[in-house]
Amino acid sequence: MINIDRENSTPLYMQIKTQLKDMILTGKLSPGYKLPPERKLADILNVNRSTILNAYRELKADNLAISTVGQGTIVNPALGSVANINNSNITPIQLPWKHLYSKMMSLSSDTITQDILELANRKDVISFAAGIAIPELNPLEELKKINEELISQFKHVPFQHTSTQGYYPLRDSIRNLMQKKGIIISNDEIMILSGSQQGLDFSARAFINQGDIVFTEEPSYFCARQIFEAFGANVIGIPMDDDGMSMESLSYMLSRFKPKFIYTIPNFHNPTGITMSLEKRKKLLALSYKHQTPILEDDAYGELRYEGEQIPSLKALDQNNYVVYLSTFSKVLFMGLRIGWVAAPKQVIQQFKVLKQISDVHTNSFSQWCLDRLIRENNYSNHIQTVLKENKRRRDIMLNSLNRFKPQNLEISWIIPEGGLYIWCSLPDEIDQKELMKNAEEKRIAFVPAKVFYSEDCDDNCIRLNFTFPSPNQIEKGIQLLMEAITDSYKEKQNEANSYTEIKPIV
Ligand SMILES: Cc1ncc(COP(=O)(O)O)c(C=O)c1O
Repeated sequence: MINIDRENSTPLYMQIKTQLKDMILTGKLSPGYKLPPERKLADILNVNRSTILNAYRELKADNLAISTVGQGTIVNPALGSVANINNSNITPIQLPWKHLYSKMMSLSSDTITQDILELANRKDVISFAAGIAIPELNPLEELKKINEELISQFKHVPFQHTSTQGYYPLRDSIRNLMQKKGIIISNDEIMILSGSQQGLDFSARAFINQGDIVFTEEPSYFCARQIFEAFGANVIGIPMDDDGMSMESLSYMLSRFKPKFIYTIPNFHNPTGITMSLEKRKKLLALSYKHQTPILEDDAYGELRYEGEQIPSLKALDQNNYVVYLSTFSKVLFMGLRIGWVAAPKQVIQQFKVLKQISDVHTNSFSQWCLDRLIRENNYSNHIQTVLKENKRRRDIMLNSLNRFKPQNLEISWIIPEGGLYIWCSLPDEIDQKELMKNAEEKRIAFVPAKVFYSEDCDDNCIRLNFTFPSPNQIEKGIQLLMEAITDSYKEKQNEANSYTEIKPIV
């Protein structure tokens, strides 16, 4: 059945040709099929005969049809079956991919993070751009032993499906770990995720409709913002003080808007390294209760405190089941195991289970079995102690290097984080971050500029420096080179400013 749309600006013969072509390529018209005589089809479609002639001529030009003596125009028999079409000498049409993507893709087309990743992954580059645990500290020997034991003891079972909510013993191990931090919940309130990133994705899917509002700290973890925006959220950034999200701003914004949830990273915030004070945590919960707005607490770095007193998580302080808590093993262990978890009210877990089922059925079974063993055999707490010690050492090396190599004439300062993976370093206003990235790339240094962590253009001239991925030697060398790059960028700006000669009026 061919449909003609006379309102459409596409010429009629092209409309007919395109539809016939689709029928041929999808096999509805098989090779050798006799196309209707031109006059007959013209009558059926109520068009001129020349229109059909033109349509058939186009099909022949594409080798999709041929003229035969006696039979008229037929579908090219040389096409063979539809499966052979790719092998025929038809020039395939270039797919216009960019017109096929969903709306969601157009919302997250930022390439700066991809450029940084590309640079950071180069072997000759010292990368301060990563956000991962020290790779060499991963307990390889223990994992090898566990692997062998699991396979010889349980054969194929650890490779079979596990429950959508997650391998029960691992959920129980996580419940135990959380209990030690004052979070008292049942195994039913925990679900294993393929990385806590999946928890951000599920939170967006479960709660966000187009146009909904979400509050985050400003700056914040860029992937979280990207996910929320991809699902149509209007992300509003709440400024930060040096002890976390500004409660004055939050209170004011809550009186004006009704967000679906408040996303926060209270411990060793990404990117600033700031930790939310206990007082603010209590205030945040009080505001969330007052405005009946849930909190999405992202505790990716909670395990990594190097000094100062542990502060209870929002989840531990929450009396009313308002907090959905996400965490992960990625920042302390092999991030490629892809294991994170969510702790939330049972009804939210129920929704997440539906999403998990349609997304990836369950998190990798073998990873879950291995991790559970690692935690149960008490290697995990030993491992954490090793990680804390070495992370702190590297943090201090970076802090010392910053002090040592900082150019005396420039105003450069940084926040000393009590834990986590990042130092947030503030540069003089004159430094253009794009220029700096270029200069740093020439010196083979990668970092993440502030812009990435803001929802809109920011005037925050900071950069995020990770101190766990590079080795101690690389940290020293890299900070020295970075400071040289900063000095170069500063000088370039000064020269630029000096090169503007005063224009004298002609008299
Ligand atoms: C704040 C925060 N949340 C979540 C994640 C995602 O971690 P994963 O998916 O590896 O658990 C990251 C990773 O960098 C992060 O910084």
